[in-house]
Amino acid sequence: MRLILCENYDELSEQAAKLVASQIILKPDSVIGLATGQTPMGMYKNLVKMYERGEVDFSNITTFNLDEYYPIKRGNDQSYYYYMNENLFSKINININKTHIPDGETKNPYKECDKYEEEIKKNGGIDLQILGIGQNGHIGFNEPDVSLYTETHLTDLTRNTIEANSRFFNNEDEVPKQALTMGIATILKSKKIILLASGANKSRVVSELLNGDINTSIPATMLKVHPDVVLICDKDAYSGIRLGVDIGGTSVKFAVVEDGKLIYKSSIGSNKGSCDTFIKEIAEECIRIKAKYPYKTIGVGTPGRITDGAVTASNLPFKNTHLAKELKKYIDMSINVDNDANCAALGEFEFGIGKDMDNIIMVTLGTGVGGGIIIDGRICHGRYSMGEIGHIIVQSKGGLPCACGQTGCWEQYASVTALIREATQACIEDKDSVLYELYSKNNNKLDGKLIFDALEQNCPVAKKVFDEYIEWLVIGLKNLINIFGPDAIILAGGITKRSNILIDAVRKSLDTPVKIEISKLQNDAGALGAAML
Ligand code: F6R
Repeated sequence: MRLILCENYDELSEQAAKLVASQIILKPDSVIGLATGQTPMGMYKNLVKMYERGEVDFSNITTFNLDEYYPIKRGNDQSYYYYMNENLFSKINININKTHIPDGETKNPYKECDKYEEEIKKNGGIDLQILGIGQNGHIGFNEPDVSLYTETHLTDLTRNTIEANSRFFNNEDEVPKQALTMGIATILKSKKIILLASGANKSRVVSELLNGDINTSIPATMLKVHPDVVLICDKDAYSGIRLGVDIGGTSVKFAVVEDGKLIYKSSIGSNKGSCDTFIKEIAEECIRIKAKYPYKTIGVGTPGRITDGAVTASNLPFKNTHLAKELKKYIDMSINVDNDANCAALGEFEFGIGKDMDNIIMVTLGTGVGGGIIIDGRICHGRYSMGEIGHIIVQSKGGLPCACGQTGCWEQYASVTALIREATQACIEDKDSVLYELYSKNNNKLDGKLIFDALEQNCPVAKKVFDEYIEWLVIGLKNLINIFGPDAIILAGGITKRSNILIDAVRKSLDTPVKIEISKLQNDAGALGAAML
């Protein structure tokens, strides 16, 4: 689903009209599915203006309206028949014989529905369907139900819809209790779909639509199976405030994002006790933040393996823990969980170096080598462990054993752990070196910082180890470039923050048009990306 986020209702109406007009200009005999209600009124006004300016010719189009109340007289000013004439048909050069609206006066609604469906088929199906969305997530009058795969049918309106639509009638009793509506199956057969959502009272369903799973209690989520849906949404309907939570071994970071900007951040220590108390502490911080920043969605990044929503992480008390479900016990809203490295990549893509790019790979160099792959703006998950780039095999024979069970994994050579291991070995073998001096002064221990200190003091032992490290790093990066052809590879982690030594060396030996950059967001990337899940 593509999202066009508009500043306000006027912009939404203009954008929608432009898409409809383009469809008609490209295919003058298009079959257009039309919606009624408050939301498309501005779009119809814009289409009328375009017609008056001679920009669109409606004479060859065929239209099918989504729905009509049942029973209702055509002359009733609340009938959709009346609405379409008032708002569009009487103001443009449409051939009225080619317009179709389910007949709210029919004596046989079932036959009318079959006839309507047949007529759509006879006209070759709908090229472009316009939809609004009800506060309960209905599209057309497809109300929340257990089974939604229907064609045009007679349906009972829910209490919620009757209440919502009573604003157009004198009172609630006047609202017809039934409607004739295209079914979800009819709608999904359309070649393209534009869904319009305006106003804060739609923000809950829009958030569910964008962040939740397909489920029949929000019928609009069924649109997720359609390959060509554009959601045009104004800022009131699109909940701009989101919370991102990045769970780490030592701390949990929180970031509130509004309209693509970080507006607040905080962190708490990671609880190493029981799973329940840890989740409770995270939830409490979420609730505290919500009192000040009324976000509508939570995204959570976590280390470890996620299988069907259940997280198992070795450095945290999560063992088959369904994080979203557990958090929902305290805070009931849309919660999405993903791997922390994927979140960091998404953060860098949305807010950092990748902002104007389509495809990026983020490589985090730390204890291991982590990574996230974003292709066409989406995290690539694959079926099993896609994105576990630290475990691509770079040494087939005699490779070092890895905790994952393989041998020769990239992270055994390109992680900071590997760099420290090799540097320690080298300095012990050459005690007459700056590196050894730093090692012995530090209680016979090296860390990334000391290795860089030695490099800056031109220590040949450190230089040799570092050059070999860069060779291994570059082998993996070359593989990633060859497989994914990204716009950029973004390196993150403590050692990338230290001077330009690393990035200069990588760029020099890679020799590629692909941009090799250092993460702009570093420690904030995970929480920011989680907010955007
Ligand atoms: C109208 C229709 C309905 C509306 C929905 C939103 O033909 O099928 O699904 O699109 O109820 O209505 P408004 O735009 O009035 O909020």
